[in-house]
Formats: sequence, structure tokens, C-alpha cells
Amino acid sequence: MERRQFVRTTLAGAASAAVGMAASPVAHAAQDPALTNIVFTAGDPGHFAGLQKLHVPIVVVADGMLKVRTPHPMSEAHYIVSHTVVLGDGHFVSRKTFNWRDQPVSEHPLPAGFKGSVTVTSTCNLHDWWLTQVTV
Ligand SMILES: [Fe+2]
Repeated sequence: MERRQFVRTTLAGAASAAVGMAASPVAHAAQDPALTNIVFTAGDPGHFAGLQKLHVPIVVVADGMLKVRTPHPMSEAHYIVSHTVVLGDGHFVSRKTFNWRDQPVSEHPLPAGFKGSVTVTSTCNLHDWWLTQVTV
């Protein structure tokens, strides 16, 4: 699977999980078993079931700024590594990396006047790659 298709598929699954949308044709693709246990969402936590509340990024949009928080404890052995923000068309917005002494909170300016979907990832050093999608 090409990277772009992989990301589209993943994002569609996250979107459905995040907002409880009816499954789209793209969301159906997210149910590809090849992606299970590779990318995690609130609706598809795979083998990390039960860990969603600590790993799915929480996103608030205000005044053209995306504020991201992962409600995950931070210790030297177990911490959130990064947040990444990408627009629905694949345009990279920004990435914030953390060390274990940081709080997993970040801010990302959206392009002026942007309207559309935004995908946010939160990566845990032990529990991999979690994402959610919001519509601005
Ligand atoms: Fe974790």
C-alpha cells in the first residue's frame, strides 16, 4: 500500500471514530486488517484496547490555532514522543516533539482562513501511533 493511500485510509477511520460518522467508502478501507494494530484510534484501539483515554489526542480549535493535549502521564520510561498536524489534503502543518519531562501539550497555527479536516497524531514510545481528526 502506498503511503498516501495508507494515510487516507487511516484518517478516514479516525474521522469516523472521532465524530461517530457513518462509514464512508474510505472508512471501509480503514477496516483493512493490514492496518489493524498499526494505527490506533478511539474506535479502533486494536491490541491496546483500554488505553484510548490516555493516548488519543484531544484537539481544541480557537482563533486559527489548534491546541493539542494528550492526557498521558510522562515518565522517563513511558511518555508521549510527539504531536503532528496534517491537513486533510496531506499538507503538513507542524510537529512538536517532547521529552519525558515535558507536558504533552502543543499549539499549531492553521493556514489563514483554513476550513476543512485536520488530522492530529500523538505518538507514545510504548503504545505507538494514535490519531484523531477534526473539522475546522
Ligand atoms: Fe503510552
